[in-house]
Amino acid sequence: MSFSVVILAAGMGTRMSSKKPKSLQVLAGSSMLKHILIEADKLNPDKIVVVHSPNDIGPIKKETKTFNKVVLAEQKEALGTGHAVKVAKTYIKDKYDVLVLLGDVPLIKSRSLKKLIEGLKKSDLMVLTAEADKPSGYGRIKRGESGTVQAIIEESECNKNEKKIKEINSGIIAFSKNNINKLLEDLDARNNKGEYYLTDTIKNAYKNKLTIETIITDSKEVLGVNNKKDLAEAERLKREETANSLMEQGVTLCDPARIDVRGTLKCGKDVFIDANTVFEGNVELSSGVHVEPFVLISDSTIGKETRVLSHTNIDKSTIGDNCSIGPYARLRPGSKLKQGSRVGNFVEVKESTIGEESKVNHLSYVGDTSIGDQTNIGAGTITCNYDGAQKHKTKIGNNVFIGSGVELIAPITVEDGATVAAGSTLSKSIPKNKLAIERSKQETVDGWQRPIKNKGK
Ligand code: UD1
Ligand code: MG
Repeated sequence: MSFSVVILAAGMGTRMSSKKPKSLQVLAGSSMLKHILIEADKLNPDKIVVVHSPNDIGPIKKETKTFNKVVLAEQKEALGTGHAVKVAKTYIKDKYDVLVLLGDVPLIKSRSLKKLIEGLKKSDLMVLTAEADKPSGYGRIKRGESGTVQAIIEESECNKNEKKIKEINSGIIAFSKNNINKLLEDLDARNNKGEYYLTDTIKNAYKNKLTIETIITDSKEVLGVNNKKDLAEAERLKREETANSLMEQGVTLCDPARIDVRGTLKCGKDVFIDANTVFEGNVELSSGVHVEPFVLISDSTIGKETRVLSHTNIDKSTIGDNCSIGPYARLRPGSKLKQGSRVGNFVEVKESTIGEESKVNHLSYVGDTSIGDQTNIGAGTITCNYDGAQKHKTKIGNNVFIGSGVELIAPITVEDGATVAAGSTLSKSIPKNKLAIERSKQETVDGWQRPIKNKGK
């Protein structure tokens, strides 16, 4: 079937109390609009018209630029959802049916939308509804005795009895191409809010004897996000959905309520994820990976059987198999840990490679450095990569032993098998298998006494 999608994102979003457009509020790492666009795109519509307010053109353009079917339509004044669809309709040819989505209903799934589009084969209008325990805030579905939909009544227009109706309007409605124009033309703003309600098209359609059918879905899928409380609830539902899907794939979650996935998390077999862990962007955990509490991993790949110990932060890095990272380690972008290597507590690594079975176990900074295999970097070692103007590289070979408290002033090379004595500050390269030591001579001072505290003062 040929149809276009309209996404309404031009409201003022006053209840969010934010400078950001409502549809760009973030849910599980992406804007609500992006979640909706992904689902709309799956339906393969002719185009997707996003209605926005004049002020939001910049951010909305940026957010929609990767979706090639998107066309932007400016609603100069927020005169209501009915008016917003009218504005969108000027971008849609009359040969297309129209599916209207709301920019603040972000948990919607394409499978429900597909049913609405399919329904248009037999029906003039299709409304997505749900049974809600707490229907307050939503438009109510008014049905006649035979169950026919007669109207959608907005909360602000409901009488006492209508307020008791539990079937709510998701706001998502599909219109057949044959009558959408007339239904929009007939709208007026004679109501308590003085707005053109899209929902009034239903009572007009009923009067004109058009067929109106509904698809009833779970109320969670059509949660309307109008304020920060709703946003937190949507986040909770999204978390539940992601955690369930991970557990179905065999991932062990210590507590499904305490994991946040803000992007895509791909897991192998027998992965264990402890409480209060956050995954951002695209993260891949291979089989047997164990993630301890309070870990943040962004856009990184972790190899098989690797352990990420508590309070560790890993960003844009690639970790091999059987590694151990943390606790309290920070891997910044460009860190590459090869198989069996270890990065311990209070170690920062940036734009560096750590070779197979090499260790940087305690309190070190490794930046712009390549470290070979089976090398040991002692506690408190620092690669001094920055001279105040430029960054320089450090090269450390295989089977090197660097003692504790060493400063390597880059550019510098420590060749294979070399040893650096603890406490040295080196600026010249160290040849293969040699010992480098840079320390002042130790002295014992005879006759020296510790100062004594004067207790009288
Ligand atoms: C709307 C529905 C209500 C439904 C609920 C579901 C109407 C009149 N009401 O109410 O029946 O139960 O959604 O969540 O349709 N917008 C525009 N231009 C405007 C006004 C709004 O683009 O002039 C956009 C908003 O940005 C928002 C969406 O339309 O994304 C819905 O508007 P909102 O004000 O949130 O309507 P609700 O009161 O939630
Ligand atoms: Mg709303």
